[in-house]
Amino acid sequence: MNSPFHPPKTVDIVEVAPRDGFQSIHELLPTAGKIQCVQALIDSGITRIEIGSFVSSKAIPQMADIGNIVAAFSDHTGMRFSALVPNLKGADRALASGIKELVFVVSVSETHNQSNVRQSVDSSLDGLKTIADRLRSEKHSVRLRLDLATCFDCPYEGEIQWQQVDAVLGKARNICKGIELEVALCDTTGRATPYQVANHFTRLRERHDSPSLKWAFHGHDTFGMGVANALFAVQHGATTLDASAAGLGGCPFAPGATGNTATEDLIYALQGGHIQTGVNLPLFLVAADAIATLPGGQTASHLRSVPRERVN
Ligand code: COA
Ligand code: ZN
Repeated sequence: MNSPFHPPKTVDIVEVAPRDGFQSIHELLPTAGKIQCVQALIDSGITRIEIGSFVSSKAIPQMADIGNIVAAFSDHTGMRFSALVPNLKGADRALASGIKELVFVVSVSETHNQSNVRQSVDSSLDGLKTIADRLRSEKHSVRLRLDLATCFDCPYEGEIQWQQVDAVLGKARNICKGIELEVALCDTTGRATPYQVANHFTRLRERHDSPSLKWAFHGHDTFGMGVANALFAVQHGATTLDASAAGLGGCPFAPGATGNTATEDLIYALQGGHIQTGVNLPLFLVAADAIATLPGGQTASHLRSVPRERVN
């Protein structure tokens, strides 16, 4: 495409429906059904999936069977499966299950971190330090992704300035010295606008760009900004985007937030810039349809309501 915007050639999509999406469903889903959904996602060409979280089953009962789901895909060596962990216990369980990519979550805002993981930001960072020390000392070939929640807006504290993100990211990078990091700026509530996304990425890249750091954006679509925010993130340095098939989701710890940006809507937009994701859109829609039929799920997707013959 003859475009003055110079979009990148490729973007990594991380499909987060099995984690951010499934956790929003109150009724327990059968493990076999979750496995079928993950398989349908794999069949569409997705190569990165956040397959679930190793969290307290009292906090999120839906994640109690995560070990069985990871085990079901243990022979899929070409896939990049990650799992969210809130603390050392979660990291230990994830590593024991064979997970090779930990997603450590900490919120930029104190009140959201308290509500989400019941500890202060600094004590979450202490947990990150123990995990980082372990990854370094055991020479695990394990990737580390940092999910910085509430980077743009907190359901309790309101707008978050880039300087607040900078403070937490600075501490985290210090803790993770010597480890390659992917850092996701997360719009947990879906209230960010594209201009705020552009500003955060620009400012934070000025302070933290490094060959050992990759940038990601994790967006929710509460205010309908999801695709626009993701595209602005890409134009300002993100190389990875999180999204959820059928837009399934909603954070139980961020009242009012709806699901992640629908992966199929995002892929359609990226295709417009000839940006490769490796995903076959018609096959992805088959997976998104399966995920949308899960009982109790809240979904939102534009592409799924367009007649299929018009999608290609
Ligand atoms: N996996 C499984 N169990 C865990 C655990 C983990 N990662 N971390 C702690 N636990 C268990 C403890 O062993 C303890 O079990 P017990 O009651 O049988 O002794 C119990 O949970 C309480 O442990 P404690 O350390 O006091 O945790 P807490 O009650 O303060 O809860 C978290 C803290 C982080 C474990 C919990 O809030 C949580 O799992 N949150 C997940 C939030 C989330 O996933 N949010 C969405 C993603 S952004
Ligand atoms: Zn989220």
